[in-house]
Amino acid sequence: MQQNNRAQFATRLGVVAVTVGSAVGLGNIWRFPYEAGVNGGGAFLLLNLFFVFVIGVPVMCAEFVIGRHTGSNVRSAFRRLAPGSAWSLVGYIGITASILILSFYSVVAGWTMEYIYRSLTDFCGIRSATALHDRFDTFASSNWRPVMWTLLFLLCNYAILARGVEKGIEKVSNILMPLLFIILIAFCINSLFMPDAGKGLSFLFRPDFSQLTPKSVLSAMGQAFFSLSLGLGCLITYASYFSRRTPLMKTAFLTASLDSFVAIMAGVIIFPAVFTYGKEPAAGPKLVFEVLPAIFAEMPLGALWSTLFFLLLFLASLTSTISMSEISIACMCDDLGMKRRNATRLNIGIAMAFGTLCALSFGCLGGVRVFGMTLFNLFDYVSSNVLLPLGGMLISIFAGWRLNHAVLKGELDATSRGGRIFLRILIFCMRYVAPPCILIVFLAGIGVL
Ligand code: PHE
Repeated sequence: MQQNNRAQFATRLGVVAVTVGSAVGLGNIWRFPYEAGVNGGGAFLLLNLFFVFVIGVPVMCAEFVIGRHTGSNVRSAFRRLAPGSAWSLVGYIGITASILILSFYSVVAGWTMEYIYRSLTDFCGIRSATALHDRFDTFASSNWRPVMWTLLFLLCNYAILARGVEKGIEKVSNILMPLLFIILIAFCINSLFMPDAGKGLSFLFRPDFSQLTPKSVLSAMGQAFFSLSLGLGCLITYASYFSRRTPLMKTAFLTASLDSFVAIMAGVIIFPAVFTYGKEPAAGPKLVFEVLPAIFAEMPLGALWSTLFFLLLFLASLTSTISMSEISIACMCDDLGMKRRNATRLNIGIAMAFGTLCALSFGCLGGVRVFGMTLFNLFDYVSSNVLLPLGGMLISIFAGWRLNHAVLKGELDATSRGGRIFLRILIFCMRYVAPPCILIVFLAGIGVL
């Protein structure tokens, strides 16, 4: 069913680099630690791992199968597999979620650019918790600077996306991902030697289930979907560029493992510092930006480490946002016959408008509340906790129940005995575990059950 003239990722390493590049980003290094901080640490981590491997991996395989089998973008994949049915709605859920995520994500990526700039020009080695807090607040609530960085970040996206799939996306990911791993390991080692490392590690690894509420269970599930880039068809789009030789189950398992590993590393970097520098683990979205500068201030060559860290965070964000944008760009190019350059312009233009609103929601639009949330929080909540789980559930039902079983098995193609056992478990989870589990957690989390 695959189309012949479609772009393809050139190598297997390239496939892993782009999928891990999409998965690893602010979701692991910025969002995971603060969500874990707000939701009680160890218990959140355990739940998150459950959702990643029991629900995330099957949904990821479902996306891979649909994408590679049809060789289509998210909208037409469902139209081809189930013509004339309501399934194409899944495509529209994905496109909406991708625009919402791109908008608020670019604001945080913009903050990383401000911190790179500061590390280079004005690294003052502040250690005091209140001073770091004030510094961040003054910046984020100012009107033009965060907006400027958000727009600049989106322009960087444009520069890569307009170059296309192999030359832009794959090349950049191949270089950046290995570099990110090396630097994270160096920071982990540094944090392990901090005076209060023990307290930080026990916060992260000792589960205290008394802290969990239905809402935090929903957050752990939302975090798993967000971090694995699932439920919005991002991986359907990427898989449409996979070659027939790419082993889907292995790629899914490897991506989920590396993604969780990076999130845990981020926790190991941050929580020892939170306790050592007397910060509050439940500080919310500012956590990373207020805690890490205190670590850099302590380190020899702090300015250099600080620049390097925020640079890598910026680059990791970039490999994630290009994957989000590719969802709608592929739809516009394939289905509306638009030129890639124009489709990219439209996508980035819309994100710029919404991104500006999100950036200003820390400043002059702070008073604008929808369901009690600022625009930034609303975009995050609706996408991660509503649209992604909903999309994930539908994708999993589609692949498990509606898609031809022979196609599903053929695409997942287990050759060894272990592989076949794994395939059975995977299909079982895809059919019987993921859909009801997502539904129950979702309904309980929003207070309906
Ligand atoms: N997974 C990315 C991260 O963790 C975010 C993302 C979400 C990317 C959805 C693509 C699609 O940062």
